[in-house]
Amino acid sequence: MIIFQKIRWMNFLSTGNAFTEISLNKNDSTVIIGENGSGKSTILDALCFVLFGKPFRKINKPQLMNSINKRDLLVEVEFSIGKNEYFVRRGMKPNVFEVYKNNEMLNQDGAVKDYQLEFEQNILKMNFKSFGQIVILGATFVPFMQLPAAHRREIIEDLLDIQIFSKMNSLLKDHITNNKLALQDVKYKIDLENAHIKSIEKNNQALEKLKTSNVNKITERIQTLTETNKKYSIEIEKLQAEIQEEQKKIKNQKSAHKKYNEMYRIKDNLLHKIAKLETDIHFYESNNECPVCKQEIDCDHKNTIIQSKQLKIVEVNDGVDKLKLEIDKILERLNSMETIQNHINDLNTQVNELNISFSINEKSIASLRQDLEESKKEYEIIDRGNTQQHVENITKYKTESKRLINERDTMGIVNNLLKDGGIKTQIIRKYVPIINKLINKYLAEMEFFVQFELDEQFNETIRSRFRDDFSYDSFSEGEKAKIDIALLFTWRAVSKLRNSISTNLCILDEVFDGSLDMDSTEYLMSLLQEQNGNLFIISHNSAIQEKFENIIRFQKVNNFSRIAS
Ligand SMILES: Nc1ncnc2c1ncn2[C@@H]1O[C@H](COP(=O)(O)OP(=O)(O)O)[C@@H](O)[C@H]1O
Ligand SMILES: [Mg+2]
Repeated sequence: MIIFQKIRWMNFLSTGNAFTEISLNKNDSTVIIGENGSGKSTILDALCFVLFGKPFRKINKPQLMNSINKRDLLVEVEFSIGKNEYFVRRGMKPNVFEVYKNNEMLNQDGAVKDYQLEFEQNILKMNFKSFGQIVILGATFVPFMQLPAAHRREIIEDLLDIQIFSKMNSLLKDHITNNKLALQDVKYKIDLENAHIKSIEKNNQALEKLKTSNVNKITERIQTLTETNKKYSIEIEKLQAEIQEEQKKIKNQKSAHKKYNEMYRIKDNLLHKIAKLETDIHFYESNNECPVCKQEIDCDHKNTIIQSKQLKIVEVNDGVDKLKLEIDKILERLNSMETIQNHINDLNTQVNELNISFSINEKSIASLRQDLEESKKEYEIIDRGNTQQHVENITKYKTESKRLINERDTMGIVNNLLKDGGIKTQIIRKYVPIINKLINKYLAEMEFFVQFELDEQFNETIRSRFRDDFSYDSFSEGEKAKIDIALLFTWRAVSKLRNSISTNLCILDEVFDGSLDMDSTEYLMSLLQEQNGNLFIISHNSAIQEKFENIIRFQKVNNFSRIAS
């Protein structure tokens, strides 16, 4: 609870270069009186100016400066909160804004705006709007009933100290937006990594395919050649077996030749012999003497020799014939052997040809084998794209995404709690009946019998016994004043209940004058007396003065306002 103790001001509106000071907690009730324009309402502007930097009424800040002195405007206020004593001074020309806590000035490092905000949020714990609804009921203030629903809500949230949920909600909205963006970002990153992986895998597959097809081609070629060579080998073996068989058939070729030659030679000899015998026979037939001894050859003897020689010729001829037959036979054999030899030669040629093809193939296979190894090596050397880093990244991003989704879900729950339908509504729902009860109680105490009801959206319905439906504007000024007072007291009571905004000070400016009749004023006075704290009534109604503990009279002397002694 804030206990306001003292306020003083100078060079403020019509106040001159000397402090006008008022004790705020000395008397339970004080009436401030004075003629119009004597400077009574100035206290409201001074109070708002020193606390919030702006006047209660709609006056421009430069216009607060006393128009005669034009400098050294200064307002000071003293108050306590619990055990702490506060002293605030604010001025213009020169500009001053200082907050003292237990005689020590609070750090003023930041901007004036931040200093003000800090002061309102951490020390006063109320803002200008709430202060206007709880401390002051002024002639120029905008009554709660004339505020739009959003402003009504703001004030009640302040009173119930649940603004924090709205602030949390607006902070949360930022978080939700950031979370959404982060989630989008992380999803995009995952997509990107997946695209990377896909493209790398595609490349690797293409490379692998190329390698496999090359290797396969070479391997197939090797296989074909190997198979061909196998066939060649078999063929060669077969041919060689045949050659061996054939060679066996002409094994005796040499000896047959030899025999043939021998027989030919013998035949020649025999023919030679026959020729000699014939020569001899011819000699004997044509010669009668021996060529050696020159003796006559005996005719008989000669015939005998001729005959024997002729016999010999027949004999030899017979041998020759037999030999010829033998020679023919051998010749025939030799001829068939030659045919075989030719065949063997053919076969050998074939074997040779096959051997050449075989070795050509062997060479090709060796070179293909080398190609194969080289080709394999070549593909090994080509860099395969690695997806590992991308996979790791995805894991990382997925963890992050999980965390963000968790966060989003949590924030969703919190958001539901913080939404207007959430915690705040629960609290407001709890307090609306209390608020209505209090308003109606205060209205009844002022003998204004209407049924006033605020709903959870802070729209009012007002019913009376005689008329069904009222709006605030359809009431008289006096009735409106009663409603305003009832609301003021209600807010003060609720603040006390919530222990949120609570202060000793209550100032009513000209509420009693004009619009309220004498009876109402009586009720109001008794109501006011019920209220604990320090009441200030600004009035020019002299009839009520005697009911107050303390009277302060303002007057204007030489164009300066001051308190009359
Ligand atoms: N800047 C100013 N310098 C001097 N006088 C001013 C200035 N602004 C307003 N005034 C005067 O100050 C007085 C304001 O007094 P106010 O507190 O409203 O009187 P009350 O409430 O007693 O009728 C008026 O007479 C007004 O003309
Ligand atoms: Mg006034």
